[in-house]
Amino acid sequence: MRVLSGVQPSGRLHLGNYFGAIRPQLELQAGHECFYFIATYHALTSVERRADLEAYTLEVALSYLALGLDPARTVFFRQTDVPEVCELAWILSCQTPLGLLERGHSYKDKVAQGLSPNHGLFAYPVLQAADILIYKSHLVPVGQDQKQHIEMTQDIQGKFNLRYGDILVRPEPLIRPEVAVVPGIDGRKMSKSYGNAIELFGPLKEARKRIMSIVTDSTPVEEPKDPARCNVLALLRLMAEPQEVADWEDRYRRGGCGYGEAKKRVFELYEQTLGEARRRYEELSRHPEEVERVLADGGRRAREVARQTMREVRAACGLVNVLD
Ligand code: ADP
Ligand code: TRP
Repeated sequence: MRVLSGVQPSGRLHLGNYFGAIRPQLELQAGHECFYFIATYHALTSVERRADLEAYTLEVALSYLALGLDPARTVFFRQTDVPEVCELAWILSCQTPLGLLERGHSYKDKVAQGLSPNHGLFAYPVLQAADILIYKSHLVPVGQDQKQHIEMTQDIQGKFNLRYGDILVRPEPLIRPEVAVVPGIDGRKMSKSYGNAIELFGPLKEARKRIMSIVTDSTPVEEPKDPARCNVLALLRLMAEPQEVADWEDRYRRGGCGYGEAKKRVFELYEQTLGEARRRYEELSRHPEEVERVLADGGRRAREVARQTMREVRAACGLVNVLD
């Protein structure tokens, strides 16, 4: 089984990215052939400054390596080191009905937020389909918000194969229901664009401040509280052992336990869960040349696979490229 996923270097990574996407992706390394990449071309739809794109790309690379990506086992690369993916995106765009893209949630959300859409944002799902299909990926581990993009990929793959033969592989999304939507400090989905995120490797003081300001209701300390509706417990559940979670739920139901106490525990758990990775992150950030070596090596391995697929795709479509 080939597993593939990508993450955009469009901001600093947060707990939602970690629990919803990065951790499940890294767990799959044990039994599968994994391809994980930094979606630099996709980030161009929202990141305007060159220095930001460079900094976020390095941050994503450092974060994955610090969190346990094993470059000996997993092909880890920058999307831009495989430019063939843009060629495939064009070919696939000729199989993609406009109506399919017009129904895109992510595109519609961004337009609703007031962003004036460019063609890249509209065509974003086609490039994502090319990312997935060029490596003939079987499984795509992502958070819930990416489900529609994978379904669009399935549609596009189906149309391509119907016209040109059995060339591209139908991928399936892999979404863990228990971490599908990690809430941010205001209770909405944690997202860099909502300003409600707790960063993975930002300053500890800032993380503490954010955790202490998680929005709760105004139930007094002594009153019973509903553990199912608390944003603090939602984060605690992701990091604590099951017995500890059960104890907190019990204390909430009985009353006498304040939200402040639970928030302090969430901060401790945050430090424990990410402490080791934070040390590796700092260590690795002193060796950017090592990170560059890993990405370049991953890029070469990924490109080999992509070029082979492109030869098959071009031949099937009747496109000639005598140089590749
Ligand atoms: P953001 O919403 O902060 O811009 P991205 O869209 O870059 O995050 O998401 C990168 C990956 O992390 C995707 O697979 C996405 O599904 C996952 N992800 C992002 N936020 C969350 C969240 N709050 N809960 C679960 N998964 C998330
Ligand atoms: N759209 C994804 C996100 O915002 C990133 C991405 C780009 C991706 N290409 C992909 C994810 C291919 C999975 C597979 O999170």
